[in-house]
Amino acid sequence: MVNVIFSGFGEGMNKRVFARQGDLVLRVAQDNGVKIPTDCKDGMCGSCAIKIEELDSRPNSHSFDSKVDPDAWDKDKYTTYMDDKELNTLVEMGAISKKEAESAQQYAQQTPVRLACQCVIKGPILVTPFES
Ligand code: FES
Repeated sequence: MVNVIFSGFGEGMNKRVFARQGDLVLRVAQDNGVKIPTDCKDGMCGSCAIKIEELDSRPNSHSFDSKVDPDAWDKDKYTTYMDDKELNTLVEMGAISKKEAESAQQYAQQTPVRLACQCVIKGPILVTPFES
């Protein structure tokens, strides 16, 4: 089980929950009463865009602290590979640049903006709404 913190989704929805590795962020949110907008649930509409940050998982760290270092992002540890559909949707909605998408494809990198309906949890993360 890993810590997932949802923050900024509205009153009563700032929550720290436990998720299983392999769970979808969207499913964990819905199971815990966190409302993330959805339309297609298939990586096509972009309505479920979220920001993902790696959580500092040290035992005594403050639960809402996170360390954000995109250059040091360990994609294998926190979330999963992004497929072309998700990357294309994020580019079309202007959440990431085409260059960032190409880099993510080429190096199998994680981008800080994801689609909740496509993002599989592997490690402790902070999830906040994406605001364009
Ligand atoms: S709900 Fe449409 S992309 Fe996630």
